[in-house]
Amino acid sequence: MKKIVWSLILMTCTSVAWATGEETFQQACSICHAQGDKGSPKIGDVRAWSKLIKEGQANITADGYAGVRAMPARGNQPQLSVAEFGSAVVYMANQAGANWKEPDEAMLKKINARIAQRERSKK
Ligand code: HEC
Repeated sequence: MKKIVWSLILMTCTSVAWATGEETFQQACSICHAQGDKGSPKIGDVRAWSKLIKEGQANITADGYAGVRAMPARGNQPQLSVAEFGSAVVYMANQAGANWKEPDEAMLKKINARIAQRERSKK
């Protein structure tokens, strides 16, 4: 019985985490990324995303969060945490064939270090 309860809890947590990346995408990113507006990599566009996927999860998550070229910092949603923003990136990358995981502790550390680096070089 205990086992069943635990696996139910685990299943719920996993599906909530997935919904969050997708929800954030719908709320904050789809304005541009659904259609590829302003030259943004369109969701599901394997060609546009394969280059970014090669750059790596930590790099492009940090770039997007800090803002890069025509991509506004945090997609113009200053309330988004790095983890929330990172989930939306995972959602988009995986729609184009990546197999990225929700950013864990180690990944968040990498992303944060890279954001700090970018913020410093902006000044
Ligand atoms: C106002 C339009 C707009 C919104 C909103 C937006 N983006 Fe973008 N995004 C862009 C554009 C344009 C680019 C391409 C930037 C370039 O290479 O010139 C981009 C690029 C990116 C990249 C690639 C960064 C890199 O390293 O090249 C990521 C990752 C990204 N966006 C994630 C997101 C996420 C996640 C959200 C929602 C939280 C979001 N974007 C919301 C316009 C937008």
